[in-house]
Amino acid sequence: MAGNWKMFKTPAETKDFFAKFLPLVAGSTHADFAICPPFVNIPAAVEAAAGSRAGIGGQNCYWQNKEGAFTGEVTPAMLKAAGCAYVIIGHSERRQFFGETDETVLGRTKAALEAGLIPMVCVGEMLADREAGKTNEVLATQFNGGIAGLTPEEFSRIVIAYEPVWAIGTGKVATPEMAGDAHKSIRALVEAKFGKNAAAAVRILYGGSVKPDNVKGLMAQPDIDGALVGGAALKPEDFAAIVNF
Ligand code: PGA
Repeated sequence: MAGNWKMFKTPAETKDFFAKFLPLVAGSTHADFAICPPFVNIPAAVEAAAGSRAGIGGQNCYWQNKEGAFTGEVTPAMLKAAGCAYVIIGHSERRQFFGETDETVLGRTKAALEAGLIPMVCVGEMLADREAGKTNEVLATQFNGGIAGLTPEEFSRIVIAYEPVWAIGTGKVATPEMAGDAHKSIRALVEAKFGKNAAAAVRILYGGSVKPDNVKGLMAQPDIDGALVGGAALKPEDFAAIVNF
């Protein structure tokens, strides 16, 4: 269960969040969970989460680990050195507003793996794609242009997040069946490229308006292994309820 804070919270607010959140999930041992705050809050989050089961992650990283003149970017190795275990890659907001492509997604994923981070690689269709009946086609294009370029060993270390763009931050959650079908088709793409065992083992998270009151139905789908949570991950009680589910 991963929380994507997007462009929310200050370091002080980060500290407050963990002070409330950690006691609520202290008894939770059945699921891995992580918070991905804005870069500037990573030190505060790492410090606050020390000694707990909460992992910390970045929301993006550069496609090489070598330092260089790339204003505004951070290397995966820097995230690792700052205490991160995870990084979100190819979120639809990066694809829509910051020119992210399947090719840059692949480069960032490889660099993240090289640095020892667990990349959570996002795919998902826009509303127009879904309405045109092109959901599976879009997922295949994103998968084949990005994730499929990993080696089998690299693939074994990633998490995939399916996030239908029309369900992000809109309150319009995909029905469990819609999400389950998309996860099934992603798993079929994995099987075709990396084989049956890889398809059975990979964790595929659903993201898009996940809340404490809809997590149960989504998680009942056999192909949904977890959630990538935006808005509800900003509130300690809500994210704790999702983790504890
Ligand atoms: P949301 O965001 O839960 O606010 O819809 C999910 C995401 O974009 O990761």
